[in-house]
Amino acid sequence: MLIPSYLLRRKEGLLSQHLAPYAKSIVGVDISQGMVDLYNASAVNQGLLPEELRAVCVDILSEGLREDDPFGSQRFDLVVCASAYHHFESIDNVTKKLVSHLKEDGGTLMVVDLIYSESLVDGLDEVFPEHEDGIVAHRGGFKPEAIINAFRNAGLEDVEFQPAINVKKKGHSLQLFLAKGRRTRRDIVQS
Ligand SMILES: C[S@@+](CC[C@H](N)C(=O)[O-])C[C@H]1O[C@@H](n2cnc3c(N)ncnc32)[C@H](O)[C@@H]1O
Repeated sequence: MLIPSYLLRRKEGLLSQHLAPYAKSIVGVDISQGMVDLYNASAVNQGLLPEELRAVCVDILSEGLREDDPFGSQRFDLVVCASAYHHFESIDNVTKKLVSHLKEDGGTLMVVDLIYSESLVDGLDEVFPEHEDGIVAHRGGFKPEAIINAFRNAGLEDVEFQPAINVKKKGHSLQLFLAKGRRTRRDIVQS
């Protein structure tokens, strides 16, 4: 199970903790070494072995070009990417990268992020002040068709997009989506 960039900012790895009972092995991924260190320290504190739960510091976009594959050519049943899509300029590219880590016959990609809202375009820094130092390519969140198209372009089938959670933060009403799709093809055309 590969989980790019979730949980690390939440330090304790909340999503991993929920998924761990159902998984043989979970690998967290983040471009930030600090986040990776916190995650791994938390895994050790829980008495988990690295082969059960570990995080690696990887730029998910450049990964694959590296000679030392941090995943050891392992393919995953499930890739979960939560609250990170808005950082990626091209969601087509990141979706194809993530899909390349799925098992070819039925591996599933799940993505969680914000549903597009006009008010977020200008209000994002107020709602998420921690974003000010980072790249936020999609300031208003995502419209369903953008995510569905990216999933289909990456060769995923049985694509679903659904509103998942509503939260209020600093006067803004935020809606998160959950999107998923299944890999059934061997070939993925990377752009
Ligand atoms: C907004 S945070 C999400 C934090 C967490 N999911 C949460 O809900 O608290 C997005 C994360 O994506 C990571 N990230 C951004 N670009 C990345 C890349 N190219 N490869 C891997 N991780 C990346 C950032 O370092 C950051 O930890």
